[in-house]
Amino acid sequence: MYSNFLTPTPGTPRDRDNRYYQILGGGARMRMLETFLDLQLPELLGKEGPLPATEICKRLNIVLDRGWKFLHLLALCGLLEETKGLYCEDDAIFGLSKQAKEYFGEDGAQGYFFRDLVNFWKNVACLPLIDVLQGMPLPDAVRWPPATPEAAEHLEKWMRVTALGAIKSILASNVMIGGAKLLDVGGGDGTIGCAMLQAYPELNVTVFNLPASAALAREVIKVKNQPDRINVHEGDFLKDELPGGFDRILFSRVLTDWTPSVCRMLFEKSRRALVPGGKLVINEAFVEGNLDYSISWEFRYIFYDTFGRAMFKPLDVYRQLLNDAGFKISRVYPMLDDAFYSVIEAVAI
Ligand SMILES: C[S@@+](CC[C@H](N)C(=O)[O-])C[C@H]1O[C@@H](n2cnc3c(N)ncnc32)[C@H](O)[C@@H]1O
Repeated sequence: MYSNFLTPTPGTPRDRDNRYYQILGGGARMRMLETFLDLQLPELLGKEGPLPATEICKRLNIVLDRGWKFLHLLALCGLLEETKGLYCEDDAIFGLSKQAKEYFGEDGAQGYFFRDLVNFWKNVACLPLIDVLQGMPLPDAVRWPPATPEAAEHLEKWMRVTALGAIKSILASNVMIGGAKLLDVGGGDGTIGCAMLQAYPELNVTVFNLPASAALAREVIKVKNQPDRINVHEGDFLKDELPGGFDRILFSRVLTDWTPSVCRMLFEKSRRALVPGGKLVINEAFVEGNLDYSISWEFRYIFYDTFGRAMFKPLDVYRQLLNDAGFKISRVYPMLDDAFYSVIEAVAI
């Protein structure tokens, strides 16, 4: 079968060249995606349905020949579906692909988080990387943690719209079963804490967060009319001790914001805050299985000085840091198909 020969044999010249072209292809794909969105092509095709190349180029005011190549390339990138294009006729039809609809909705006007990712990419990709590496002051650098209530609100909105996968990973791991008091450190706007309350009627939750996000969490708890089993503790984990007396301490999507040494310090604080027999729970993306995800975020962090080094870590780094802080990993729950997160359960040694 011809298809059996499509993947090159590892270590061969074709494998080498293929991997190099994957890097080059990544650059081309990114420029295509940016322009796809900037031209509002998803919105146009979402509203009108598939259109002939001539019509699309006319509506977007682009030169037909270049536009045709662009549309065809978007189809190769998986963002458009091309029909009747065999002879590259002007009236080949282009519509939104299934994949594009997953990101931007049937009407092509959705996808807040996917669009925002592209905006953040554009803000840094336009900067001269060598100048940046050599010390160029960074314009509008993203501050971490968020420096204003608006920035905190933006962050927590991102976290809220992507929370479902994180919640599913934690629930699937069953690590909260048997828990009575959960401290959700850097617990966002309380969305995850509220989900834990619903799943585990015996559980009480404390959301630990900085003042601006803590205020948002109080609001969410009020609006969702949550039972009084959830409360908010304002604090800065870089400076403050964690409150004590918990049998579960959760870090969900927090540790990929901090360097290994900060993570170790947080584990040491957790060790002091856990009751004997308590469990430390980490819900986080590891580098393993998430290389493109890690690369795209770590690229951005070059431009954000308030983020440290090596935010995305392999499992073995977590294992070592936990060990340094007096924990051992008791179980690791692998990623579900819903999200990038794996769950580590650790207990005091
Ligand atoms: C990426 S969000 C994750 C939110 C939530 N755990 C989730 O999975 O949806 C990181 C969280 O850490 C909080 N955070 C950052 N720095 C902090 C600090 N120094 N002290 C306490 N919380 C902090 C942020 O406010 C934010 O809520």
